Amino acid sequence: TSVHFHIITLFPEYFDSPLSCGLMGKALEKDVLEVSRINPREFTRDRHRTVDDRPYGGGPGMVMLLDPLVQALNAMPPGCRKVLLTPKGKPLDQSLAASLAKENDLALVCGRYEGIDARLEELFDLDLVSAGDFVLNGGEAAALCLMESVARFLPGFLGKQESAGEESFSSGLLEYPHYTRPEEYAGLKVPEVLLSGDHGRIAAWRWQKALENTFRQRPELLTTRPLTSNDLDFLHG
Ligand code: ADE
Repeated sequence: TSVHFHIITLFPEYFDSPLSCGLMGKALEKDVLEVSRINPREFTRDRHRTVDDRPYGGGPGMVMLLDPLVQALNAMPPGCRKVLLTPKGKPLDQSLAASLAKENDLALVCGRYEGIDARLEELFDLDLVSAGDFVLNGGEAAALCLMESVARFLPGFLGKQESAGEESFSSGLLEYPHYTRPEEYAGLKVPEVLLSGDHGRIAAWRWQKALENTFRQRPELLTTRPLTSNDLDFLHG
């Protein structure tokens, strides 16, 4: 298989449905990728299988203990890239997903509670990755986002139909609008050009719509993608 994800989580069951549904379920059956789930609790030795404790210095919530996480990470295969999901990480984007898709082994450390003992970052070379500028209960949902976005780059994950080439971001732009039957619904018609059979006009129309969507919804995306003279013609013309 291409990538082996090693999810380190106190809630391995959190991933049951996401890993069995749709394309991800199929891909796991076909061994397009591999997923292991490791519960740090398995590495505890005390009677209560303790994985967290109160923060030094006081304050609300609990902090995840170093030792169970250290043991879980030490059990990773050699050369394994280690990612810590945390809101203080680098925001996940399509180019990071593409680069992670080149790894053989990816450990995904899911923090819970208020956080993880900061010394974990001194003991291991960790890539800090965030799902975005918002706070989740833990890294699990972020790990799912990461796995799904990475998996889409793996050979054999997408069917022939679901090509990765025309999605949002593959051009640096948001996606163009899609339509299917019926041709008219509640008085709303499918744009004429899409019924024309003229592939050149269709491609130009889709490009213009993608550009318009991006300009309206995410103008900052255009600052890292130089506008072509055609782009400018479409925007102003
Ligand atoms: N844990 C809590 N919030 C998170 C986020 N936004 N991204 C990654 N991990 C998180």
